[in-house]
Amino acid sequence: MKNGDVSHGRRRFLVGATAAVGGVGIVGAAVPFVASWNPSAKAEAAGAPVTVNVDKVEPGQQVTVEWRGTPVWLIRRTTEMLDNIEKLDDKVRDPQSAEPQQPEYAADKYRSIKPELAVLVGICTHLGCVPSYRPEVAPADLGEDWLGGLFCPCHGSRYDMAGRVYFAQPAPLNLVVPPYRYDDDTTITIGLDPEAA
Ligand code: FES
Repeated sequence: MKNGDVSHGRRRFLVGATAAVGGVGIVGAAVPFVASWNPSAKAEAAGAPVTVNVDKVEPGQQVTVEWRGTPVWLIRRTTEMLDNIEKLDDKVRDPQSAEPQQPEYAADKYRSIKPELAVLVGICTHLGCVPSYRPEVAPADLGEDWLGGLFCPCHGSRYDMAGRVYFAQPAPLNLVVPPYRYDDDTTITIGLDPEAA
């Protein structure tokens, strides 16, 4: 399977992928979000689940897929990224996912079923812009305290690698975690809870 090779029922489509390993060369990169409007996508917009093979999402990489007409990010978090999430507990406003921005099975600091794979709706909770994937540590434009995360270019809201919003941002809430489940070790379905048949 190639990068971004996404299985959606019987069809496959590429939406977009942003590779970023080691903080090199992605400053200011917008996350590609290419809508895939075709007849079957209408069913998707109506809420059909989307099945994705996540095996080839490399450590540090973000892949964008479409679900219900919105971008959903898959981020393969490295050990360093997970360690940095822990360091930010006192800088984000809902560190333990107390607010209902995620399903119960993702209500912890990593906000995911498996820590290594983040699944996040890529829509800022302020006014709906698409944030940028900024995994670099201490880039010049975001400052030395930046430990990697998501940055919204519209009004400057900052989220960490779990989609947790920092204190005192325009955005009031963490990014949404959609319902999803693992069908097996390498396949997830977005739009279905784990207990769904
Ligand atoms: S829409 Fe993201 S900060 Fe305003």
